[in-house]
Amino acid sequence: MAVLGRDGIIYYLNGGNDDELYSTADNLRQSSFGQEVYLRAIVEFSNVCNKKCNYCGLRAPNSKVSRYRMGIDEIIESACMAAEAGARTIVLQSGDDFSYSPAQIADIISRIKESHDVAVTLSLGDRSAAEYKQWFNCGADRCLLKLETTDADIYEKIRCGENFHERMELLRSLQEIGYEVGSGIIVGLPDYTVEQLADDLLFLSNLELDMIAAGPFIPHPDTPYSPAVTGDIDISFRFTALARLLNPFSNIPATSALDSFDSEGRKKGLQRGCNVIMPSVTPVGQRKDYNIYPGKNSVSVDVVDTISRAEELVRALDFIPSASKGSSRRMNNVQ
Ligand code: 5AD
Ligand code: SF4
Repeated sequence: MAVLGRDGIIYYLNGGNDDELYSTADNLRQSSFGQEVYLRAIVEFSNVCNKKCNYCGLRAPNSKVSRYRMGIDEIIESACMAAEAGARTIVLQSGDDFSYSPAQIADIISRIKESHDVAVTLSLGDRSAAEYKQWFNCGADRCLLKLETTDADIYEKIRCGENFHERMELLRSLQEIGYEVGSGIIVGLPDYTVEQLADDLLFLSNLELDMIAAGPFIPHPDTPYSPAVTGDIDISFRFTALARLLNPFSNIPATSALDSFDSEGRKKGLQRGCNVIMPSVTPVGQRKDYNIYPGKNSVSVDVVDTISRAEELVRALDFIPSASKGSSRRMNNVQ
């Protein structure tokens, strides 16, 4: 195996030796997690967003989206249905929609935690550190805050004027509060280079993340990036396999964007170092409107079916859908 400095990473990202890379990543996943794969059930409770990210179908200026906001009880009900169907982690995700008050989010978290023994992950965007602290005190366990790129200039460009350093500061605050924190990037954004991806990988690996997510860029027709070239799925697989090599104990999802290319996409991800899948358990009526990129949420089966299909996918690969919450193993294993 080539040494995994920046040059080694570039060598593998360019397809220098896929067989070696994927088998090493698979072996490492196996020694860290055994046969277990974690399922994270995502409730996408609002597709309203006040941001203008150039890559995302939910961006505020996109008037073609049919916007929805789920009610508090409806959100809790979806989470509880997923928990009853076997999910041990509930991810509460929305666009940057600040119409839900901190007290309402706190109420959702507390009521889910009171009724079910599940981990709750927040993926709510740029809310304040004080709000996140309040939600941590209500029992929220994890946060997901994607950087999308780790280059400050590219960040500002793709997220339409947003500030990378503020995002990083929030990410650090979440770690200080005590959350398990996940982040990640999109692979193959317009004008990307493999050198930049190598830097992204090194940057993310230095952040001591509990979860690292990366999926291929898929141009959305109703965004400024509609004419852009689709991300290279092989580079995306290589990126997550390399993330496994550099972060043996971090959770790494096989993102649903992988399945937009190839119905086997998530399976291949799980065979190449990933150990998590994140099925959407958003009610069928709303799910198709959470259209971040084409192909997202195109399967519309109910919550119980969604969980059992995800479990089937895991079992078909001779993995075991984990009965545990899948808390970070990183902390227990840092040398
Ligand atoms: N292609 C691929 N991934 C995307 N995301 C947003 N837009 C796209 C796209 N066009 C990812 C981002 C975001 C997550 C919800 O989906 O990483 O954080
Ligand atoms: Fe909003 Fe997130 Fe999409 Fe940006 S990526 S437009 S913040 S939903």
